[in-house]
Amino acid sequence: MADSSPQASTDPGTTATSSPEQEQFDRIIEQDSRIEPRDWMPDAYRKALTRQISQHAHSEIIGMQPEGNWISRAPSLKRKAILIAKVQDEAGHGLYLYSAAETLGTPRSVLNDQLLTGKAKYSSIFNYPARSWADVGAIGWLVDGAAIQNQVPLCRCSYGPYGRAMVRVCKEESFHQRQGWEILHSLANGTPAQKQMAQDAVNRFYGPALQMFGPPDGDSPNSQQSMQWKIKRFSNDELRQRFVDMIVPQAEALGLTLPDPDLRWNEERGHYDYGDLDWDEFKAVLSGNGPCNAQRMAHRIRAHEEGAWVREAAAAHARKQADVETKESTLLRHA
Ligand SMILES: [Fe+2]
Ligand SMILES: [Fe+2]
Repeated sequence: MADSSPQASTDPGTTATSSPEQEQFDRIIEQDSRIEPRDWMPDAYRKALTRQISQHAHSEIIGMQPEGNWISRAPSLKRKAILIAKVQDEAGHGLYLYSAAETLGTPRSVLNDQLLTGKAKYSSIFNYPARSWADVGAIGWLVDGAAIQNQVPLCRCSYGPYGRAMVRVCKEESFHQRQGWEILHSLANGTPAQKQMAQDAVNRFYGPALQMFGPPDGDSPNSQQSMQWKIKRFSNDELRQRFVDMIVPQAEALGLTLPDPDLRWNEERGHYDYGDLDWDEFKAVLSGNGPCNAQRMAHRIRAHEEGAWVREAAAAHARKQADVETKESTLLRHA
């Protein structure tokens, strides 16, 4: 997944007169140690994390759709098996993250409701369609690649359950990126039409993938607080730069070009320069006007409704189990 920068306002707790709890919290952050669910934490920290982790979870769940759409049309049995595994991994990421978010006190049903009613956001990248098989490759290489860049530093996040969930997620994301790169590599070394299909997919996903790191630093006021709390370790622009530096040689190895005429090595900075991104488009997609926003939400709502019987059956089973356990313990007491 994806950037899910918290939108919380600056925490008044860190600047107001300190309580012993606040001092203990500040010390844990200062020492690069971890805050755990039972520890005291400022309300704004709890709120910012709940928002970030749940947005991340929603992105994993919605993110299954563009590629899930290609499972039935994968070009071989091997490709199909790999793609199914990848999409299932994303479901797993969503589940770890909802569990991590729940440790902050908001039940998953509430978080899910926020997604289904449109109150919560998810990463804008998933509102773009996967038009060809090459798009599955471009999503793996660029979208999962950007997710890794974002998420590796989150393994050191100050909130324990989030950081620990990220360790496994990152291992799986790195498999996702490799499989995407390999799809593009096959196409780029195939027929001219296949190579063109790969190039077209990269042309469409390059810009939106760079936008996954969120707005430029000057336009992202909440990032600073998030960095002070050591939730976030690098700024949006720092992460974006690392990503560009990583994918330029990879694109060269693929024999594909990145659609940016301003992209060139800057000897002085020791980084690649890149051109401006279309932030108006980013805002439009984020506010619901991307090519697939309505379709993604309609699909998610339908899937949730169709799964009602599973949730009811699971709840009935849990009630029955609890009943059996109560009866057994009563019998034991009277034995
Ligand atoms: Fe994921
Ligand atoms: Fe992934």
